[in-house]
Amino acid sequence: MGRVAGRRKLIVVSNRGPVTYARDADGERVARRGGGGLVTALRSLVSHQDVVWIASAISDEDRAVAAEAGGAAVDEIARDGSPFRLRLVAHDEAAYDWHYNVVANPMLWFLQHYLWQLAYEPSLDIAFQNAWDEGYARVNEGFAEAVLEELAAEPDAAVFFHDYHLYLAPKLVREQAPDALLAHFVHIPWPQTDYWHVLPDRIRREIHEGVLANDVVGFHTRQWGLNFMRAASDLAGAEADFADGVVSHGGRTSLVTVHPISVDPAEFDELASTPDVLEAERELVERRPEKLILRVDRTDPSKNIVRGFRAFELYLDAHPEMHRRVGMLAMLDPSRQDIPEYAEYLGAIQREARRVNDRFQQNGWAPIELVIEDNFLSSVAAYKQFDALFVNAIFDGMNLVAKEAPLVNEQDGVLILSENAGAHAELGEWALSVNPFDVAGQAAAIHRALTMPADERGERLESIRAHVREHDVAEWIAAQLDDLDRCRARV
Ligand code: F6P
Repeated sequence: MGRVAGRRKLIVVSNRGPVTYARDADGERVARRGGGGLVTALRSLVSHQDVVWIASAISDEDRAVAAEAGGAAVDEIARDGSPFRLRLVAHDEAAYDWHYNVVANPMLWFLQHYLWQLAYEPSLDIAFQNAWDEGYARVNEGFAEAVLEELAAEPDAAVFFHDYHLYLAPKLVREQAPDALLAHFVHIPWPQTDYWHVLPDRIRREIHEGVLANDVVGFHTRQWGLNFMRAASDLAGAEADFADGVVSHGGRTSLVTVHPISVDPAEFDELASTPDVLEAERELVERRPEKLILRVDRTDPSKNIVRGFRAFELYLDAHPEMHRRVGMLAMLDPSRQDIPEYAEYLGAIQREARRVNDRFQQNGWAPIELVIEDNFLSSVAAYKQFDALFVNAIFDGMNLVAKEAPLVNEQDGVLILSENAGAHAELGEWALSVNPFDVAGQAAAIHRALTMPADERGERLESIRAHVREHDVAEWIAAQLDDLDRCRARV
């Protein structure tokens, strides 16, 4: 397929791609939409720009597609009919396992969300160093090689890296293509310098130097951006100019920008009345308690689900008048279950829900309903029904649930929001803010949300909606493209 004239040439690079392949019951190859907020947010790039998307081959069928294409990109069609090219990188399987299941998630994700109990863990032994060198670094080399091949064909394409799976790739690309335009968006928090000291000097330096090879480094909040600039200067000897938002290192400068990711409100307006959502909503309305508290999360330790149940228990202790009238619906997508920390956390969630239910359940009423499945349409149905939306993340890059659910809610529901979620920087003034460690505070916020006068609830919800409608995902994408233009103008 030829390039479409008049569009920008972009090479998007992320671990998960916009589609993943499988075989259906008849043995036919099918392309399924890849999961996650990032992929959804980037979808409109494909519609409006000329995109080659480079991603890991994750399923067996992805590997088959990559092998048939000889590692090259294949033609794909987005949901709205837009053409794009998809290049799946079939990493060595052991290397990918180390990359995803040892380094990226249990180490970098834990570090960047402040999840380690440092008195006990982590212990970095030779196995971790090996997983870094033979896994994380190898996979990044595979991505860099693919980017360089695409750049050889389209030297003026801009490269747009995403997230914590790819910290080393930009420097590898820069070494071979010094004039390439490289941007990197980090979708998770950037912790303060001291916490980076969990990692050996060599590794934390490689991470910061890798990211500093980009022309633009984007974050969802000012706080994560400032932390990056400070850490880059403390750990990699970069020079940070906080007033201009630039960091200089090795004779180059990187622009550090802040653009909070968002959602497509039209998509949720449309979804809210689709037959599947309406059916799921009917089922929920039949069983829902008088007051419904909702949480929708991946089963990730950063989401603070166990502590959330404890907070709800405290609320139930303090408000016996609400027994049998209130319920917490926890819709949880089982996530990263090949990683022991995640499998254990799912067990802890189930144990805690069971404990609270065993304490309070009576006459067919149980306070917590746990639904452990990936079911986006049921979540949208629940978004319409909540009286209180509970987001108490320990730390969270953004938290798109806090933006999505208010858009379609029909109960004048109240948002209870962790002060450590990126979304708090935008929505905090209309939410009930909670400290994620303060379970008593979270219990009090539940009470306040469920007893708030209707006009105040309506005003708060309307303000959140107006903000999300005004600052939608199209604005986020446009801001990234503007950054690239600013950088191109500079060189
Ligand atoms: O928040 C970062 C992120 O990469 C999101 O884009 C995505 O929704 C989530 O983590 C899922 O992670 P995984 O790809 O490991 O399932």
